[in-house]
Amino acid sequence: MLLSRRDFLRATTATAVLGPTVAATVSSCAAPESVPAVQFGTPLRVPPLADSKLEGGVRVFSLVPQAGKHEFIPGKPADSMGYNGGYLGPTLRAARGERVRVDVRNQLSDATTVHFHGMRLPAADDGGPHQMIDPGGVGSPAWAISQPAATLWYHPHPHGSTEKQLSMGLTGLFIVDEPGGPELPHTYGVDDVPVIVQDRRLDSNGQLTLDSNGNSLGTLGNSIAANGVLGAALKVTTERVRLRLLNASGGRWFNFGFADGRTFHVVASDGGLLAAPAPVTRVQLSPAERAEIVVGLAAGEQVMLRSFAPELGSVNPPDAFGGGKDFDVLRLDAAASLAPSPALPATLAAIPALEVSNAHIRSFTLNGHNINNHTMDLNRVDEVVKKGATEVWLVDNTNVYQHNFHVHGVQFQLLDVNGNPPLAHLRGWKDTIPLLPRDRSRIAIAMPDYADIQHPYMYHCHLLAHEDQGMMGQYLATEDGTGPSKLVMDGMQM
Ligand code: C2O
Ligand code: CU
Ligand code: CU
Repeated sequence: MLLSRRDFLRATTATAVLGPTVAATVSSCAAPESVPAVQFGTPLRVPPLADSKLEGGVRVFSLVPQAGKHEFIPGKPADSMGYNGGYLGPTLRAARGERVRVDVRNQLSDATTVHFHGMRLPAADDGGPHQMIDPGGVGSPAWAISQPAATLWYHPHPHGSTEKQLSMGLTGLFIVDEPGGPELPHTYGVDDVPVIVQDRRLDSNGQLTLDSNGNSLGTLGNSIAANGVLGAALKVTTERVRLRLLNASGGRWFNFGFADGRTFHVVASDGGLLAAPAPVTRVQLSPAERAEIVVGLAAGEQVMLRSFAPELGSVNPPDAFGGGKDFDVLRLDAAASLAPSPALPATLAAIPALEVSNAHIRSFTLNGHNINNHTMDLNRVDEVVKKGATEVWLVDNTNVYQHNFHVHGVQFQLLDVNGNPPLAHLRGWKDTIPLLPRDRSRIAIAMPDYADIQHPYMYHCHLLAHEDQGMMGQYLATEDGTGPSKLVMDGMQM
């Protein structure tokens, strides 16, 4: 095996800290990546809003996971997967207080699940790895929306093959609305535009491939897609545009900003609006995180939304572990004259701090692809919490490379990172936090309002290769906070 200097540094640094076993998985013999040159200017595709029908007061959506074709490169259709189409899925949209049901008919040749990431809902409806839907099978999760306006999303969660199914295109947004909010750009597809950003690994025939090259982050793509479009451009017709950014990559971190360095405002994080717009020049998102940003444009100008080399912590060898690269993502093309936009409100939402003085405290140590020295066991109950309680979870990344941490069924507040207050875009309600090398973060969680002694919620690293390798645990929420240490599933074979 020939090591470049970079790989040598990476391997030796990792060996010193992690020991030989983990080092073997993070060293790499990869040939240099060639990123196909992309012309910007292809119109950004905006995922359609999902149809729904009202049935006895319940808003009912229909999702059909299916195989299809998608042209990342014109004339070279790739095998892909989507919901109700060939790639990605429609945007589901419902308001706080509404009751919803999602009828899923699986037309894939593999079993799948539909997980509602960021949603407060009963564990049995969460679409985690226990809620598998066989090929030809159906599922009908239903719940009442009980949380503030937010950009949530849905995706498959089959244990061990989440990276594969997401990478093929099974990803969509679920926007929660709340009447009476602050005045922000809100015309879908016009001045309020979802941008699902994914790195995709394409071969020379334009086909999607999964090839980690031994990188512990899993497959890192050589192309950047915005809503499935390489080299996308959005025609902007208003003075300000709101972009709902989702990092739907498997392992790639994005550090979004604009090519000219302009200031923009973050107005929402994963689970809803911030207290006030936060002026920034960069917003870094790990896989699964979202940020809603509002950016102002001048008539006639063009500006590039770019992902700058992510800031992954100085203990990383430069350029390793998915760092080191800039990617253009989406060009904004302002029209020759722009319709006026509402001024940015001074305040956005009241976010009362969770009361943590009596909170139960739990610790989660991330090491290699383990959490608290365990890999995922679908039968094991790792934690049992009391429904509706507030808890503080201490999450500790002991590694010299990055992870992140996501908890199902809840939104939480990031209290501190290594004792410091969180960056502006990590405030408000979160469901996924980044953990840079050696980060110790504390989160305050408002536990689910639903008790269920049989069906667990997941918590895990959302780097999909890590998740698939078992960097995940499960918790039950019960009436009194006690429960079994093994799951008793109704007739289900694990
Ligand atoms: Cu985005 Cu366990 O999920
Ligand atoms: Cu989730
Ligand atoms: Cu991880």
